[in-house]
Amino acid sequence: MCGIIGYKGKKNAKDVLISCLGMLEYRGYDSSGIAVFRNDKVRIVKTVGRIENLKEKLLRYDLDESNMGIGHTRWATHGKVTEENAHPHKVGRVTLVHNGVIENYKEIQEKLKNYEFKSETDSEVVCALIDSYYNGNNELESIEKATKELKGSYALAIIFDGKDKIYGIKKDTPLILGIGNKEFILSSDICALLPYTNEYIVLEDDEIVEIGDKFNIYYDGIIIYKKIEISDYSLEEAMKNGYDHFMLKEINEQIDVSKKLYSKYITNDFINELIPDLSKYKRIDFVGCGSAYNASLIAKYFIDKYCTNGEFYCNSYEASEYRYSNHYFDKNVLAVFVSQSGETADTLACLRMCKEEGIDTLSIVNVISSTMARESKYILPMLAGPEICVATTKGYFSQSYICSLLCLKLMYRRRIIDKDELLRIMEELKKLPQYLETVINKDYKEIAKSIYKNEDIYYIGRGIDIYSCYEASLKLKEISYIHSECFASGELKHGPIALLSKGTPVIALLSEFSVHEKVINNIYEAKSRGAKIITIRKESINIDKNLSDYDVVVPLTSEFVQNLLMIVVCQILSYEVAKLRKCDIDKPRNLSKSVTVE
Ligand code: AGP
Repeated sequence: MCGIIGYKGKKNAKDVLISCLGMLEYRGYDSSGIAVFRNDKVRIVKTVGRIENLKEKLLRYDLDESNMGIGHTRWATHGKVTEENAHPHKVGRVTLVHNGVIENYKEIQEKLKNYEFKSETDSEVVCALIDSYYNGNNELESIEKATKELKGSYALAIIFDGKDKIYGIKKDTPLILGIGNKEFILSSDICALLPYTNEYIVLEDDEIVEIGDKFNIYYDGIIIYKKIEISDYSLEEAMKNGYDHFMLKEINEQIDVSKKLYSKYITNDFINELIPDLSKYKRIDFVGCGSAYNASLIAKYFIDKYCTNGEFYCNSYEASEYRYSNHYFDKNVLAVFVSQSGETADTLACLRMCKEEGIDTLSIVNVISSTMARESKYILPMLAGPEICVATTKGYFSQSYICSLLCLKLMYRRRIIDKDELLRIMEELKKLPQYLETVINKDYKEIAKSIYKNEDIYYIGRGIDIYSCYEASLKLKEISYIHSECFASGELKHGPIALLSKGTPVIALLSEFSVHEKVINNIYEAKSRGAKIITIRKESINIDKNLSDYDVVVPLTSEFVQNLLMIVVCQILSYEVAKLRKCDIDKPRNLSKSVTVE
């Protein structure tokens, strides 16, 4: 969703706000703006489009002599992408930036008869509401009174005329206070803090932070003391480091991520106790959105294949559906939440629903300071480091890797595999970094050149390859805007084959040895309709040399990580296609890295 920032310190506030907004831009890039405080006055500059547009516009303004300000980069929810709807909003003596969605803003607007509204946003209504309670000296009280009336989610950074302090408050949306050397940064996430400090405090719901020359945190009007945490993220990790795009950097980082995951979760060639034993449960509900849901399907695939029996089973759910459907819960149920950001609204709501039901909750999460990491009973850190590109790659990789480890531990506990078999698989996990290097260093440009002009591209496979196709198709859609679908290859002739005509690209994944001949038959069916065939196969599966127009072979490894090699090929292919289509790969249109609204 949106990214909000606040700065108070010794540096030029305008410059700090702009650089921080640059780090937050992956949260939303429809419009942006800043407000700086100087000589008791608040000056606002905002514009439609990227931070670059704002930088340009700021050249025409003299905002330099200020050490305090707030800023915003927007992902439009309420109101079109216009300058009026851009933040900051100022009503009366109050200026604010907002991340989140206020569900009852229309009712509140009705009530605020004496106010005129310039924008279509819920945020401006919040601004007016705070001003309506403000008497010129009761900053904290006016914020408390106003936020008590709000329904929905919000993180706010607020400035009052004549007061050189910034106020921050949040509910169901992340807000972090960065503590630097004589400077403070209020931010939607950690990445924006890193150039200034790695010391931070995570604000909880309804806590108000007041930032002056020092800061205070209030809860119910009383000052509370909170632990300062240290982020282990480095600034380098949050920079492109010479890569053209964060996506390409993060694809390459999967080699290191696989090493980190191995050293974290494997001890003496054995899955260690950090990976919980799921065998005490009778049902596992995996829940996630988008790619996180796709990763959870890998767990479901292996548990269905090896562990499900009359007494034990699992399911994968899209969080937005799980949230509003009926479920039977008892102590034999474990809910596993999969989320890179740890802030995705639907997944977080499901976590809270399951906690209310009193069942165990486990989150596979990347951002350790996130709400889901802090509210889950158990967590499994993904160790992927900051993921800046909106389309996840190393995040999905890590989620899928951990899902496989969960299943392997369960299979070992259930004596479905013995020690020798497990050791053989651990050996393959150890070799994964070199397999990844082989796959990543291949050249996919020629294939990309042959398909990037197509507006429809389809993925087919069987067994676990179907789930890799889900993720591959999502990746291509997200960054290239090409219409893409994936089908169980056996389903083609029951309808989807009608979509194929001369030159329609069909990408077939072949890593399930037991059914590869069936997939090959389905490929011939597609080929006979004129489709352009791209095969991605593991080296132990052979095909006729004339079967496909392009053929990619990946190293053979354990089935528990084979899908990771298959998906990395698809990630890079999508990347090369999007590059040829001159798409904004790291910030695709209409998307945001962390979807904190329902
Ligand atoms: C994936 O590339 C997308 N960014 C999106 O589908 C994402 O996976 C989904 O929004 C879930 O995000 P999360 O993992 O942070 O919860």
